[in-house]
Amino acid sequence: MLQSVDFTQTDAFRKLKNHQKTIAKTDIKTLFAEDPKRFKKFSIRFKDILLDYSKNRINGRTMIALVKLAEECQLDDAIQKMFAGDVINETEGRSVLHTALRNRSNEPVLVDGKDVMPEINAVLAQMETFSNEVRSGEWKGYSGKRIKDIVNIGIGGSDLGPVMVAESLKPYAKKGLNVHYVSNVDSTHVTEALKGLKAESTLFMIASKTFTTQETMANADAAKQWFLANGGSEEDVKKHFVALSTNATGVEAFGIDPKNMFPFWDWVGGRYSLWSAIGLSIACSIGYTNFVGLLTGAHEMDNHFKTTPLARNIPVVLGLLGIWYNNFFDADSHAILPYDQYMHRFAAYFQQGDMESNGKNVTRNGNKVDYQTGPIIWGEPGTNGQHAFYQLIHQGTKLIPCDFIAHAQSQNPIGNQHKMLLANFFAQTEALMNGKTEAEVVGELKDSGMSPEDIDALKAFKVFEGNKPTNSILVKKLTPKTLGSLLAMYEHKIFVQGVIWNIFSFDQWGVELGKQLAKAIYPELLAEDEVSSHDTSTNGLINTYKKWSK
Ligand code: F6P
Repeated sequence: MLQSVDFTQTDAFRKLKNHQKTIAKTDIKTLFAEDPKRFKKFSIRFKDILLDYSKNRINGRTMIALVKLAEECQLDDAIQKMFAGDVINETEGRSVLHTALRNRSNEPVLVDGKDVMPEINAVLAQMETFSNEVRSGEWKGYSGKRIKDIVNIGIGGSDLGPVMVAESLKPYAKKGLNVHYVSNVDSTHVTEALKGLKAESTLFMIASKTFTTQETMANADAAKQWFLANGGSEEDVKKHFVALSTNATGVEAFGIDPKNMFPFWDWVGGRYSLWSAIGLSIACSIGYTNFVGLLTGAHEMDNHFKTTPLARNIPVVLGLLGIWYNNFFDADSHAILPYDQYMHRFAAYFQQGDMESNGKNVTRNGNKVDYQTGPIIWGEPGTNGQHAFYQLIHQGTKLIPCDFIAHAQSQNPIGNQHKMLLANFFAQTEALMNGKTEAEVVGELKDSGMSPEDIDALKAFKVFEGNKPTNSILVKKLTPKTLGSLLAMYEHKIFVQGVIWNIFSFDQWGVELGKQLAKAIYPELLAEDEVSSHDTSTNGLINTYKKWSK
């Protein structure tokens, strides 16, 4: 059980409230001018990852007080409890042990007094054998041909993690073995994914922790029908359908051979499950050794998180900075901006990771919070974002703290394009910090030969306030290991924030209501009659739909 502390009632919180008034009066640019050691002071190197958090609205006192806040909220105790398998997901009565899935030290991890490492290792061994067979062509489809296409059918954590990693690690993917991901219950998704695929060389992975999720089950049924209609038989399903799940009964009822079920456990949260059997499509695509590289990178970050003093602990520092803006500057969103095209699903992945974890308004004591919790997470890869929404970050009215992420080495060097990409990364964080003063604008316009009247009319629009906070995360190269570390870094950042906000980060009751209502409305859509049991808007929409869908 995690200790429950109201962070707004701590000494550190009160100090930070006062301190914020001082920091609000200064800007990051000035803080740099005052302290030549600022970059050194506010950056942390972890293996091939450099976190530079010096372009934030902080000084030494801010960080001391934020760390004090974490201490008063018993963060250290919470970290130890999570790794030790305490039942910290109290509303579901579960431990939270995605860290055990990547525990490369193999030291025992106990759940109800039982070491879970042997089971984890057994499933990893099963994944290794299977992925090797699929990749080598030893695993054959019904006609004796090797597998060319893998279709992972899942949603939420059973989709976003695998698709994000598979996209990020595409340079490590096996040629001639394509992975596809189907998640949306919109039949367009499965239809488009299957276009051009051959049943005899396609392998379906039905990924669902519960094996009851409506979208996944509907898509799995559609895939099975497609398979049967395109040459496969019921008997052949064994060779072409595998399940990644905790629900053996459901898997068998679907017709999947229990031998082809890759199990995991209820102490693995959906959005933290890519490290489990849910990662099978990743292992098949990049190979088991690379999959282990991913686990190793995450394990290294786990160790850093578990053992590094709070002030030098990367996920802790990131979590505290997020709290600084969320609760002391009223920032309501946070942008994740990877300057790497391979990471184009990274922000989407952490939308679930963060928002499903910390989008909560009830404290661990069961009371309504009277402060802000999880921010809105969003983002797109640079430089595309620059030509879309950066305008608002630079000159809009909202404070949007941003994480910039880039790799020093390109996977696909062409001329100087990678240098151009990185120049944009560095320029943006500098521009967001420095802005452009009216004097600078006027000077530039004068130099361009503009008349004083025109300058007067234009100058206000060209001023950039600056003082916009950013973290820069520079990674040497995108590898399975560095990606694993980055992912674990963000996972733990989310955990840190949940502990301080005194909320339960590992349940997701908020997704239930919509599911329940959809289940109730579905039979109404199947029936002929008009509906009248809802509010007038919902009735109106349903009845119009009924007319138009004929
Ligand atoms: O969106 C709610 C949720 O329960 C997620 O937490 C989970 O990742 C997703 O649904 C899919 O669930 P399952 O793996 O059980 O199909």
